[in-house]
Amino acid sequence: MKRLLIVANMPSINTTALAKAVLKGATHQDVENIEATLLAPLDTGPKQVLAADGIIIGTTENFGYMSGLIKDFFERIYYPCLEEKQGLPCALYIRAGNDGTGTRIGVEKILSGLAWKMVNPPLILQGDFQMSFESDCEELGMLIAAGLDAGIF
Ligand SMILES: Cc1cc2nc3c(=O)[nH]c(=O)nc-3n(C[C@H](O)[C@H](O)[C@H](O)COP(=O)(O)O)c2cc1C
Repeated sequence: MKRLLIVANMPSINTTALAKAVLKGATHQDVENIEATLLAPLDTGPKQVLAADGIIIGTTENFGYMSGLIKDFFERIYYPCLEEKQGLPCALYIRAGNDGTGTRIGVEKILSGLAWKMVNPPLILQGDFQMSFESDCEELGMLIAAGLDAGIF
């Protein structure tokens, strides 16, 4: 079994639904041999990241940047995971009320420092909440889980 870790900031009903949609996609019945887990940032540390074969990060955009909880997550795992997790397949989704660019740039800089491998373009869910955001997230979860399962990443 490969482990897919989903770390998501979920401050609202909408963002909780998005994270659950990613998990739903990642646990689709067609995806075998993947154990997907959804955790809040505060429940995630180096132990969970070191054990992961792939990771999906979900954050809101706050004040033009990633949420404080996701930044705190990166601060806690950065050095403990730096050597061992280079090349970790990774994907990102951003829920932004109106932009998302500052968050994308900020996360990409950290991921570049960690040398994780972005295996999908960042998914930016922008503007008023749309029901389609949930299917986008489900698709993202399934894509990453299927890619890991198939050994593509
Ligand atoms: C303190 C705060 C700051 C925010 N700053 C931004 C921002 O800089 N850019 C942006 O696009 N959205 C911003 N937002 C909106 C959030 O991204 C949005 O509320 C969050 O993604 C939850 O979305 P929801 O309403 O669909 O639950 C901010 C929200 C809060 C509470």
